[in-house]
Order: sequence, then structure tokens, then C-alpha cells
Amino acid sequence: MTTAGPPAADRGAFAVWVRQLRKSYGSVEAVRGLSLAIPRGQIAALLGPNGAGKTTTLEIIEGLRTADSGEVLTLGVAPVAARRRVGVQLQESALYEDLTCAEALRLFGRLYGYQADATALLELVELGEMAGRRASDLSGGQKRRLQIALTLCNDPELVILDEPTTGLDPIGRRQTWEMIKSLHRQGRTVLLTTHYIEEADQLAEQVWIIDRGQVVAEGSPKELVAGLGAAAHVSVAAPESAELGRLPGVLTGEHREGRWELQTREVGSVLSGLAQALGEGALRDVSVRPPTLEDVFLERAGRPLARDRE
Ligand SMILES: Nc1ncnc2c1ncn2[C@@H]1O[C@H](COP(=O)(O)OP(=O)(O)OP(=O)(O)O)[C@@H](O)[C@H]1O
Ligand SMILES: [Mg+2]
Repeated sequence: MTTAGPPAADRGAFAVWVRQLRKSYGSVEAVRGLSLAIPRGQIAALLGPNGAGKTTTLEIIEGLRTADSGEVLTLGVAPVAARRRVGVQLQESALYEDLTCAEALRLFGRLYGYQADATALLELVELGEMAGRRASDLSGGQKRRLQIALTLCNDPELVILDEPTTGLDPIGRRQTWEMIKSLHRQGRTVLLTTHYIEEADQLAEQVWIIDRGQVVAEGSPKELVAGLGAAAHVSVAAPESAELGRLPGVLTGEHREGRWELQTREVGSVLSGLAQALGEGALRDVSVRPPTLEDVFLERAGRPLARDRE
């Protein structure tokens, strides 16, 4: 499914405006008619599995790669013309390992013609104590935070972060979320990519779910989940032979790793059906959770997002 895409009127008012974007690498069609429009001042996330076309799309928005076809406006102008107003954290970016944190920030600022306030930027990413430390001597999570500080040294209106939290532990991930929220409070637009459902859910005002080079769903996390018709997920340990997918009220049922995974809009009747089918004791190992963006991906893409995850 492709969405109709954003209206062309006022497209210059958006932080990012993309219509019918296409990009192939030889015979690989990485982006296949992708459209999106990100209002200024928002936190927006592209959520999708490996190879969905997220990085390719960002690189075109950043002016680092050219599209085969389609229209792209970054901060209302051609991406190349917007470069100085955009801060970019690439998915794989090398740091100048021999420079200290403060030196790296000042150097990057000068490259953009700015005098970066290294102290303030390091405070913002909670590396205030590390100004004199070489990048090579930082932990993985600290390096990632320094990279975020580097994206800010030209005081950008739009900050683009490609998988800012991949590989971080839960604490590092939460610290990064706080940092991203503070960029948002400063009035900047933030566009990020992620594989993590929870990250898109917690952080983004608008989410574009991308699969195989196309937008398969877009909206606020709440809207996307509500669009599923509030189907809940019930998981119960039971043998495949119990055939729980046939219980009244079950929309879809799948047996995986010793458990039945059931979607339903009638949790009460499914739980009483389970008690009847398996006995009351079986209900000790039942979990019920409300629908998430994971379920939205499953419905739209026809397979779980997690299966593609690293
Ligand atoms: N420079 C390149 N040359 C050839 N193929 C490429 C190149 N860059 C990306 N691709 C291919 O294009 C498709 C989209 O890749 P892209 O990096 O945009 O995906 P992604 O959504 O960012 O994935 P990930 O979540 O793994 O970072 C993939 O099939 C990938 O193998
Ligand atoms: Mg990528």
C-alpha cells in the first residue's frame, strides 16, 4: 500500500516534504514511491526493518545522495541548499579519535562557519566532564552522545539522527531520548530512524512505518494503534494441538515457541474460552497486552517487525 502523500500546497512550510521518491542501486529498488511531510518543530520517526530504505531516504533529504525521481524539499528548499541548516548524524560516522571532545566540536563548528559553544553542547549531551578527553577514550554510549553534540554545532533547525540508540543499553537509550526531547524543546525539528517500537512510541509525534521502500502506515502512535480497532494481544503457553486460534472472539492465532499468540477485541470472552479449553490453572501463564506499533507493522506488512531485527 502507498499512501496518497502530503498535499502540495504550503509544502515549503514543512521541515521535510517528500513526494513519490524513488531510488535504486542497480537492480535494488531501495525507495519505491515514498511520500511524507514533517511539520516544523516535531519529532518524527521512520520505523522499519533492515533494508526498508530509511537511510537512503535520509541521505536524500540531507542532500548527500540524489534521487532517481520524486520531489524533496528540506526546510523549504532543495536539500543541497539546506545543508548548513541541518545537523546530521550518519548511521556509521567516524569520530576524529585523536581530538578531544571540545576540539572536535570547535572543529566541526568552524567547518560550518560557526563558533560552537563546546561547553554548552557537552553539557546538553551530559558529557560536561569529558571536554578534555579524547574521542577514542569514550565508551560506546558516550561516543554516540558526542556524535549528537556534533550534529548541533551549526545550530541546526532540523536534526537528522539515523538510529541514534541502536546498540545502547536501556539507560543509554533513555538518556538519548531525554536529549532528543530537549532538542525538541529548543524548537528544532528532529527526524530519526529506529527499529525499536518503544522508541517510536515514546518519542515521536508522527511515525512513518516504512517497509520495502514504501510508507505502509503513518500517523501519531496513538492514531496508528487505534486504527487497529483496539485488538489486544493474548499470549498463553499451550500445545499446538489445543488449536486456540479457533476460540470464539479470536481474530488471528499463531503458535510460536510453545505459545499461542492470539489477537482479539474481546479479551474477556477469550480468557473464559481459555479457562474452559485448558482449565483454570492454565491462566497462570497468560499475558495480555494492549496493541502496539508492532501489531500495526504486522497488519500492514504481513509479517512481524521483530523477525527482521538484528
Ligand atoms: N550504497 C548502496 N549500494 C547498493 N545497495 C544499497 C546501498 N545502500 C543501500 N542499499 C540497499 O538498499 C536497500 C535499502 O537500504 P537502506 O540502507 O536505505 O535501508 P535501511 O532501512 O536504512 O536499513 P537498516 O535498518 O539496516 O539501516 C537495501 O536493500 C540495501 O541493501
Ligand atoms: Mg539504515
